[in-house]
Amino acid sequence: MRIGLLTGGGDCPGLNAIIRAVVEKSISYGYEVVGVKQGWEGLLEPNIIEMNSDTVIGIIQEGGTILKTSRTNPLKEKNGVKTVLENLDNLGIDALIAIGGDDTLGVAYELYKKGCRVVGVPKTVDNDICGTDFTPGFDTAINTVMDSLEKLYTTARSHNRTIIVEVMGRHAGWIATIGGMAAGADYILIPEEPFSIKNICSHLKKRYSQGKEFSIIAVAEGAKPKEKEHLMILDKQKDAFGHVRLGGIADYLSKVIEKITGIECRHVVLGHVQRGGSPSAFDRVLGTRLGVYAVDMIKRKKFGRMAAIQRNKIVSVSLKEAIGKSNKVDDELYNIAKLFFEK
Ligand code: F6P
Repeated sequence: MRIGLLTGGGDCPGLNAIIRAVVEKSISYGYEVVGVKQGWEGLLEPNIIEMNSDTVIGIIQEGGTILKTSRTNPLKEKNGVKTVLENLDNLGIDALIAIGGDDTLGVAYELYKKGCRVVGVPKTVDNDICGTDFTPGFDTAINTVMDSLEKLYTTARSHNRTIIVEVMGRHAGWIATIGGMAAGADYILIPEEPFSIKNICSHLKKRYSQGKEFSIIAVAEGAKPKEKEHLMILDKQKDAFGHVRLGGIADYLSKVIEKITGIECRHVVLGHVQRGGSPSAFDRVLGTRLGVYAVDMIKRKKFGRMAAIQRNKIVSVSLKEAIGKSNKVDDELYNIAKLFFEK
């Protein structure tokens, strides 16, 4: 058995833990592993490296992915799927493990339908993949957000300012909700629930009248005011998976809120800091468990499926069930968050 392994889409902490686990578990079964470089790109223009214990030494604590990644989409390339299948054959790859978010797993599912022996492993800081309770990368990201919000509190307090902090979360507001809750943010805005600028302003004014002259607002990049028709977009040009670059909601809110309330505002875009750094213990262990399980799925011929965590058990779910939709923040959780700002 010769397994190919790739990481696609945006990077995140915990990918190297998955890679390490796949390699070591494969070796324990006597399987060979090759790393495909730069996501699907490495199967369109073959680019692989042989993997062994030496190639994964000391990587569990490193952020990013030693295999590199890209947003290349074979489904958008002329003869892309055919080329990937031919290259897998030419490279002697018997089964493929695709580590990625919804886009990468969507490609994996299309390849599976064409006969490819593929299993998926989910990852994303956004935690928005269906069928799994958590994705590697998310826990590290929320800790980064929590730390950043805490740092912003001291400067906001010193200057009697409101700071609006834009965090990742295109379709789902997990990072804003959990990172914000953990840091005690004074307002949390997420894509799941269009918000009222009027309500935010009256909440901030109320805080000021109570002597709380500073506030921190966590806003997901995909959150939208009720008063506005469109999402805030940085760059309209779409990537290979049809996504525009979101961004600008914090800047917009800081200007509007300052104008309405007279409270001095600043905005901060945390951006890719949230995807960086050394993975948390949770992400290292989750990545390890999913990586080990993915190799077992290959052994048991569970193709067209994805390793996932549900109620702290690692299970496999069909890619078809997992892709094409987003795991949203549930009302129960967001209502707990709201207790602290919608009074
Ligand atoms: O991986 C998901 C994500 O982090 C989104 O939250 C964000 O919109 C996007 O990636 C940014 O991607 P890029 O790396 O292309 O700037």
